[in-house]
Amino acid sequence: PKRTKIKDLLNATEFGQQVTVMGWVKTFRNNQFIAINDGSGINNIQAVVDFNNTDESLLKRITTGAAVSVTGELVESLGKGQRVEIKVQDLEILGDSDPEKFPLQPKKHSLEFLREIAHLRFRTNTFNAVFKVRHALAFAVHKFFNDQGFVYMHTPVITGSDAEGAGEMFRVSTIDFDNIPRNDDGTVNYKEDFFGKPTNLTVSGQLEGELAAMAFGDIYTFGPTFRAENSNTTRHLAEFWMIEPEMAFYDLDDNMDLAEKLLKYVIKYALDNCSDEIEFLSSRLVEEEKQKPQNERSELNLIDKLKFCLENDFERLTYTEAIDILKSSKPNQKKQFKYLIDDWGADLQSEHERYLVEKHFKKPVILTNYPAEIKAFYMRQNEPDEHGRKTVRAMDILFPGIGEIVGGSQREERLEKLEQRMHEMHVPAEELSWYLDTRRFGSAPHAGFGLGFERLVLFVTGMTNIRDVIPFPRTPKNAEF
Ligand code: 4AD
Ligand code: MG
Repeated sequence: PKRTKIKDLLNATEFGQQVTVMGWVKTFRNNQFIAINDGSGINNIQAVVDFNNTDESLLKRITTGAAVSVTGELVESLGKGQRVEIKVQDLEILGDSDPEKFPLQPKKHSLEFLREIAHLRFRTNTFNAVFKVRHALAFAVHKFFNDQGFVYMHTPVITGSDAEGAGEMFRVSTIDFDNIPRNDDGTVNYKEDFFGKPTNLTVSGQLEGELAAMAFGDIYTFGPTFRAENSNTTRHLAEFWMIEPEMAFYDLDDNMDLAEKLLKYVIKYALDNCSDEIEFLSSRLVEEEKQKPQNERSELNLIDKLKFCLENDFERLTYTEAIDILKSSKPNQKKQFKYLIDDWGADLQSEHERYLVEKHFKKPVILTNYPAEIKAFYMRQNEPDEHGRKTVRAMDILFPGIGEIVGGSQREERLEKLEQRMHEMHVPAEELSWYLDTRRFGSAPHAGFGLGFERLVLFVTGMTNIRDVIPFPRTPKNAEF
């Protein structure tokens, strides 16, 4: 169809030409002014109807939500808040929308309400902005890696191993629950299942990514991952997207440098390319902050917060250093933490991460060299320290308001060390023989990390619930759309 995107018309400087726009009616005022949005941007175009010369029956069908095609002259607008408008010559209703039934009214709806109608929330300004930013961030991720010669590797969604231990897995099976095939001893006969063995949805593409990195040098994955953790928080999804680069010949410092560079690049890309959307989200946030008591309001606005992140080096310190800071911190000494830090070795809770990022350093933080006990089997082992404590070359990046946004490590490339650790952690080596082959044939130092895409989108959009930055959220007891 010959139509012009509204976003392009709003910037037009030539008046008098005839244009056609197609979009959805946001509001219709005084039987005269239609605000139309076609999704190309947040801003609507105003189309002015000559109601004296238009059928009453047609006017009645111009309702919020209806799809319309409007042709007319592009003229300078005399109204406030817009430069241009369309003087309607021809108006066609492409799809009616019953105003009694359409759930979106021309007013501000709560995010909770919009979550209930996730299939329609794309039509709101907020979600238009959020998903435009999401798109831009995804594009920027690919651009960043492509420009540096990384290969985008597609790793499987269905996996035959369940050994990474990153989280609870979703079983993939064609077995009929009402008629489960059994062996003589009563156990499930998986030979009858589609793949002839138990399979799961992937929790991470890392292990397969390592295989590819040992051939291509630099690769990344960007795909959906699944975790059946029953954690109903504003930071967890059962289905989320993860970016996992894996680089041969990288050590932990190289790994941190790349992660910091990636984060800064994509944030800057969004600022440069989604300024309208981010400005809109920023003002949305200001309104939201006004609802809160004075002492809970955040000091920085969204744009300043993003710029601050670009302009400052992330703070890098070891887990051990972080524990020392936390131990002697006010909330720990006054017993205000729910989980008090009294010893080396405990995993950090989100309250501790938030303290380090938001109160102590007041900027993004990279924590390294965690206790081996609390990290995955594939992380490279350090020599025990002077107290005999064992650590691994892990790194977690913590962001203000988000907590952990990146988790990664240098990998254990020494076969014997890796096998020994797998044994200690009861990771079945036979099942992962294909993985261990990388260490058998031309093993090399390498490192990688996983960036949670929705947590990144949360940070850049200033949204506060992860369900609001993925189009169709999957959370416990919720897979409706
Ligand atoms: O720290 P995680 O579990 O690390 C891994 O999966 C490694 N295999 C990554 C690697 O080294 N290649 O997850 C990585 C990131 C987290 O930092 C977080 O941002 C995000 O993935 N994440 C989630 N995001 C949303 N919902 C969940 N349930 C998430 N679990 C992890
Ligand atoms: Mg992690």
